[in-house]
Amino acid sequence: MQKNRSLVRLPMLLVVLLLTGALYGGLIRLGWDLPVIQTQLAGLHGVLMVAGVFGTVIAVERAVALRTNSRSHLAYGAFLPPLFSAIGAALLLFVETIDIGKMLLVLNGLGLVVVYAVVIHRQPTVFTVVMGAGGYMLLIGNALWATDRPVYSMVYWWMGFLILTIVGERLELARVMRPSRLRQPTFCIAVAAFVVGVAVTCAEVDIGARLVGIGELALAAWLLRYDIARFTIRQTGLPRFIAACLLTGYAWLGIGGLLSLKYGAVIGGFHYDAVLHAVLLGFVFSMIFGHAPIIIPAVLKLRVPFKNSFYLHFALMHGALALRVIGDLSGHMGARQWGGLLNVVAVVVFLLNTVGAVRNGSQPPHDRSQDKSRV
Ligand code: HEM
Repeated sequence: MQKNRSLVRLPMLLVVLLLTGALYGGLIRLGWDLPVIQTQLAGLHGVLMVAGVFGTVIAVERAVALRTNSRSHLAYGAFLPPLFSAIGAALLLFVETIDIGKMLLVLNGLGLVVVYAVVIHRQPTVFTVVMGAGGYMLLIGNALWATDRPVYSMVYWWMGFLILTIVGERLELARVMRPSRLRQPTFCIAVAAFVVGVAVTCAEVDIGARLVGIGELALAAWLLRYDIARFTIRQTGLPRFIAACLLTGYAWLGIGGLLSLKYGAVIGGFHYDAVLHAVLLGFVFSMIFGHAPIIIPAVLKLRVPFKNSFYLHFALMHGALALRVIGDLSGHMGARQWGGLLNVVAVVVFLLNTVGAVRNGSQPPHDRSQDKSRV
């Protein structure tokens, strides 16, 4: 267990650095006049976020799950992919020639595909295959990026990595609900529409992007119809908070789908910003907010007790994103810039809130005798 913990800590520490660099780069791209600390930071924003931060976090989570369910020492090999992506992306920040970094990111994608192949071999189900397809999309995305493909034309592979990983997990959890004949077939149709769209972007970005939009819309509709969050929203405390994050995230996935369907190929600027971040912030980060209190205890062995203040980063993120997307769609630079800045603030508040909760969780149990003496 101790060995697991140290294998997790290095990549997770690098994730903090990568996230900081990515957020700073995002602000520069929004046009905020910030001191230049690394000349390529703005151009690296996308790769740091997707391949660096999420490529590492998801690979760490997979490695811990594999190691927990396996007695073989070979399972330690699953800790290599997150190291590849964390070190690879960090090298992009510090090394002038970034070829080694690119190579390590491709190795991360390859490693994740191998890990999923083992998982699928042990548990051949629709949800493991869909998550595996997500890992495969990361591999293709990283390989395309490493060969200098413009990001606007390959970003759908990166989005596919995140979307398929998340919806695969949600299908797994939906199994606890009442059996339904339509649940799995409709899920497969929605995933197929999305995957075909991503594949088509390789030949025809405009048509592919619109198909991706249809796939996102179908997935959002499926999640809103079949996810357990519809029921857990009626509970209190953490289950309600998680459900609020999930349902709001699904709404953003639908909005992202509508925008992609409407605008098709977008190669930069206001519409590009809206199409990407409705999904990458509205959907993906909302899942992170909701899952953090469960994933952190599983991966880092730290308790994250629920606090009502979690609703602060939740509300800030979605309010700010709404402002940003409205700014993007109406061509209002100020709304876009302030919305983006507040998105960064929401991420920082989330980190502070989580660290605060972890510190509370590590306190020794409350001494009730002192309460009595105070009364
Ligand atoms: C939290 C605050 C964030 C800010 C302020 C931000 C800002 C930006 C900006 C301004 C752009 C350029 C859009 C344009 O061309 O007009 C961009 C692109 C992009 N962002 Fe973000 N972003 C944020 C979060 C994220 C997240 C969470 C992800 C991924 C999960 C992400 C992934 C991307 C990608 C892949 C691109 C395309 C990069 C490229 O074309 O080079 N961003 N972002």
